[in-house]
Amino acid sequence: MTYFNKIIETRDWLSLKYNFELIDLALVLGSGLGAFADLIENKVEINFDEIPNFKVGKVLGHNNKMIMGEVAGKRIVVMQGRVHYYEGNTMREVTFPIRVLSSLGIEKLILTNAAGGLTGKAGQLMLIEDHLDLFCPNPLMGENLEEFGDRFPDMTEIYNRVFIEKAIEIGRLADIQLTKGTYCYLTGPSYETPFDIKVLKALGVNAVGMSTVPEAIVAKHAKMKVLGISCITNLAAGIGDKPLSHTEVVETTSRVSDDFISLLKGIIKEI
Ligand code: HPA
Repeated sequence: MTYFNKIIETRDWLSLKYNFELIDLALVLGSGLGAFADLIENKVEINFDEIPNFKVGKVLGHNNKMIMGEVAGKRIVVMQGRVHYYEGNTMREVTFPIRVLSSLGIEKLILTNAAGGLTGKAGQLMLIEDHLDLFCPNPLMGENLEEFGDRFPDMTEIYNRVFIEKAIEIGRLADIQLTKGTYCYLTGPSYETPFDIKVLKALGVNAVGMSTVPEAIVAKHAKMKVLGISCITNLAAGIGDKPLSHTEVVETTSRVSDDFISLLKGIIKEI
């Protein structure tokens, strides 16, 4: 079966489980950020392993469920967890769920992640203004799917500026400190070396991580409006004085969980 036919097969399967025409936006929850799902009312949950053609990630802190329901009066679909390139998936597999969401008619997408900070402090939430993706294969490589977008899609405003301004305003009203910055995508799974970080810092990068960018490129190709939020879980290699660990990443996300959840709730209400 072609990649496109798989997208359609999955779309049709999901359409029988839920009326996606009612959905306003989709949200992808990164490592340790899954607690947001407790807020969803009138939930319908589907495990990734039940969904045809979906891959299941194995990262601690990811629940691997698709949840449909209501938050702040809006109908949303939440991807609680994602699959990564470093798990051995192809870029097409990593971005498959985004194509499916687009084919279901969803036009707004919030991508969240845990990231290492080159500037700022651990525990901060950063709105992604733009990204650096010079080191990794592009998820649009291979035959172009004309049904979604052009061969050479524009990427000048992947992260929607209106969404960013709204998020800043919501943060201000809720007294949640937010920063804006550039996220650099690296495949992982090893964390960066202090020299990697020194070079990236000289280039103006604010945060580094192992997700989000492939999804954002595919979403922009399909003309979805994207908001990206990084939870800075640790200082990047060589910036702080301790070794990096996934345990710290998950601990920090649970520490900032309350702020993160109220920010998301406010954003969902407004966008
Ligand atoms: N580097 C890359 N990815 C990450 C980090 C980091 O320091 N922290 C959380 N995800």
